[in-house]
Amino acid sequence: MLPDVGSVRPWADPGVIELNRLPMRVPSTAFPTAAEARKNAQVDDGDASPWRRSLNGKWNFRLFDSPDSIPANAVIKPPSKSWTRVNVPGNWTMQDTGDLPQYTNVQMPFDGPPPSLPDKNPTGVYRRPFKVPASWDGRQIVLHIGGAESTHILYINGRWVGYGTDSRLASEYDITDFVERGDNDIAVVVSKWSAQSYVEDQDQWWMGGLHREVFIEARGATHIDNVICDAAYNHVEGSGRLDVTAMVGGFTAPTAGWRVKTRIESLNGKQLAKPVTGKVPHAYFVPMRFFGHKVEASFSLADIEPWSAESPRRYRVICELIDPDGQIVEAHAQFVGFRSTVISGNELLINGQPAWIFGVNRHDHHPTRGKAVTLDDMRADLLAMRRHNITAVRCSHYPNDPRFLDLCDEIGLYVIDEANLEAHQYNTSLCNAPAWRSTWLARASRMVERDRNHASIIMWSLGNEAGYGRNHDAQAGWVRHADPSRPLHYEPASFHDGWLDGGRHASDVVCPMYPTHEDTAAYSGDRPFIMCEYSHAMGNSNGSIADYWDTITSTPGLQGGFIWEWKDHGLLATLPSGKKGYAYGGQFGELIHDGNFVADGLMSADLTPHPAIQEVEWVYRPVTVEKKGTKLSIANRRSFTDLSDLAARWQLNIGGLVTASGTLDVPTVAPHSAIKVALPCALPEDPDAHLSIVWTQRAATAWAPADKVVASDQMQLRAPKSAPLPKSTGIGARSAVSKLLAAPIELSIFRAPTDNDGYKLMPDMTKQHGIGGKALTSWQERGIDYNPAETFVDHNHRVDVLADGSEVHHHVVEVPDSLDDLGRVGVSFQLKSGFDQLRWFGRGQLENYPDRNRGAMVGTWESGVDPEPYLVPQEFGLRTDCRWFEFVNSSSGAVVRLDVLRPTSMHISATRFTAADLYVAGHETDLAPRKTLVVHADVAHRGIGTASCGPDVLDRYEIPTGRHTFSYRLSVK
Ligand code: GAL
Ligand code: MG
Repeated sequence: MLPDVGSVRPWADPGVIELNRLPMRVPSTAFPTAAEARKNAQVDDGDASPWRRSLNGKWNFRLFDSPDSIPANAVIKPPSKSWTRVNVPGNWTMQDTGDLPQYTNVQMPFDGPPPSLPDKNPTGVYRRPFKVPASWDGRQIVLHIGGAESTHILYINGRWVGYGTDSRLASEYDITDFVERGDNDIAVVVSKWSAQSYVEDQDQWWMGGLHREVFIEARGATHIDNVICDAAYNHVEGSGRLDVTAMVGGFTAPTAGWRVKTRIESLNGKQLAKPVTGKVPHAYFVPMRFFGHKVEASFSLADIEPWSAESPRRYRVICELIDPDGQIVEAHAQFVGFRSTVISGNELLINGQPAWIFGVNRHDHHPTRGKAVTLDDMRADLLAMRRHNITAVRCSHYPNDPRFLDLCDEIGLYVIDEANLEAHQYNTSLCNAPAWRSTWLARASRMVERDRNHASIIMWSLGNEAGYGRNHDAQAGWVRHADPSRPLHYEPASFHDGWLDGGRHASDVVCPMYPTHEDTAAYSGDRPFIMCEYSHAMGNSNGSIADYWDTITSTPGLQGGFIWEWKDHGLLATLPSGKKGYAYGGQFGELIHDGNFVADGLMSADLTPHPAIQEVEWVYRPVTVEKKGTKLSIANRRSFTDLSDLAARWQLNIGGLVTASGTLDVPTVAPHSAIKVALPCALPEDPDAHLSIVWTQRAATAWAPADKVVASDQMQLRAPKSAPLPKSTGIGARSAVSKLLAAPIELSIFRAPTDNDGYKLMPDMTKQHGIGGKALTSWQERGIDYNPAETFVDHNHRVDVLADGSEVHHHVVEVPDSLDDLGRVGVSFQLKSGFDQLRWFGRGQLENYPDRNRGAMVGTWESGVDPEPYLVPQEFGLRTDCRWFEFVNSSSGAVVRLDVLRPTSMHISATRFTAADLYVAGHETDLAPRKTLVVHADVAHRGIGTASCGPDVLDRYEIPTGRHTFSYRLSVK
């Protein structure tokens, strides 16, 4: 049995959240001098301090079946040869230890009820030696565990030290009395399951292990224990106010004579005000007159530059601790940014201005390291976000590594920091249960205590999907008192009690998930409306995101939201098929799982963008242009900066060719305002004319080089016009095209279901629980997925072969009223092998769909044949509104061309897969690309919607029943 706590079993008691753990603090490393502190102010550089040592690296590791089955020797005796070695930070579930990841959404992975635990509870014992240098004699030695999933017990040199919970926040322990100078031994026992698992029931992989950094630190016998910086911005005066509280701690209460000197400076070291030196109060024994060993320094700063995501201006605070002899004994540095976040009426104001929330949700994820993300991983995520105009991120659903917040401060992103608290399966019961009250309070309060210095955090979130109960109001009360400067966010507060008045105590914003477009448009509450989740990016998705933004930008109180979500969470593994690939739920042999619902990101797990990013980048663009009569209206959607950092060009495109272009001279456009300029060209006479305005950044940014396109808008100046239909010559010779066909032209009404049409791998989710899109079920019930299209619709097809060998096809399709949810109406055929290049005049460049094509400009595009971009194969690759499309065999030079005759355009795709190929494949690695080119040309194609979690395709993007008539010419060039 584990020494000391083995019989107490704290992991099984939801009320025991810590034993002997030090209070949470702002991460801050002490350095001997201000100069060193200044140089290493990023948390990441803490190892540069002589008083800090990383314990990251290889640890000895052994897995047990439960904490109860661990013999005392496992934490006392040296580990034997049979132990393995694992990386810290790391999840053992990703390191061949025999215990694997498991994915569930709402359901818990084991039977309840709370707080009962399964007999099998994989528990890892981590061991390693470490040294305590002689130079640390007389100091307080602290061990820092950055994150352990789910709970951990600490032993030093075989003696029990403490116990901690909350897998997404650090725990620190005073180990001074447990260590010796020189060689020491540490054991951390991490249980995968605990009572706390019931409040860490997020829609994610269950992992296990020490997934964040571990280090030891030597704090002075008297030291600065915490540096709290409250930096406020007064936008009326343009001034800032900074209140710094340095808390002094140590082995014993400080005696008289200790002082803290605090200064505020710019990042290049310029002092902004006179330093403030304050005495550390020591007379704690004077009844009722002692307020703590803290030194407060306040600065009023005229003319300060505020922090915002647009200009993330940071400053530095330095605190020096001075002993009674006048010696500086240590120094700390903290970054601050002057910013205000205030709710005024139904608007959330940053520095006095409303700001659009162009947001995404983000989980920690890496395809081989699981939850152990590095600084580089985090930076790569954030820079990619900014490249695509994303300027806000919700830490769904837990506090990230503190360095993530440093990066958001530095790069410029607004953050919702969220407490690690989700009780989705027991949604409405635990939030009122007294046994869980302390964990509720600790998870929110410790987050605030750790993260409060970050300018990027604009709201605190109390957690996710944990009902709404009195435990939440306890959390809210604590947070409001501790930090009155930031509003609160908690989605279920208004979900359970209504958008108008629900849960005001726990949420200052109405922040729903996946509301319908109608409900969104009808919002009339007096709080800001910011969707904490919307536009579910599972597979081929994000339909109608531009329609949401039409509503957002035209309805008072609506301010944007956070797309669900940033990345797919595939894990690189050997799949049941024996192939290597990104695994989703169920592919590790686990019986309880939620399949590919874990893959619902704008990016794949390795940060390859999915095509919908094109639309997101457009929807979130910082500047919009509209044609108003003979003028262009240019609107700046930023809150603080004009558009002078962007260069605008115009381009006139007629019939697919650029006929004129130039620089657009744009006078200053103040934030949140619009100006009008004259059209840069005369209105052309020819049909099918478009004017595009393209904005590029003049200078390089941290995330993109100069000239990167940041916004574009396209206006139709003249509609396309149909040419007269070619007359049949009646010759009837064999056409040139027919020789290149590998499969004949056939009517097609079935598309390989997208995740939004239905979960093809999890049919019960829809059939039994009514979740997800309904289209797939209806196609399957009718047999549309397997039977020829003509079984369901009347089809008349006439072909004329012209003298030049081209073919003109005329189709009339009658869709009966009962088939009101078809995937497509069109034709498909295959071209012989060798066709590998595509050219088209239509929307591009990336894949686009009728309800996701506003960011896809009309023009003449070229590309190779798209690979299938989604983890679970599904419909992909469409280009809407194509006037013509060319299929090129780049080695033979052969070109097959499709000209649309009636109507003026069709939606076309050319891939290596038939709809059936995609439909039957359960994983991207199951696909075998054909050598032939599979072409679909649709006169109508169903929108994409987001029914996998949220509204289905809007009515106007469904395929109407009744008659569909279309004609096109196929020729060989
Ligand atoms: C929300 C939840 C997320 C995720 C999403 C669906 O309900 O907050 O964690 O489950 O739905 O992917
Ligand atoms: Mg959930």
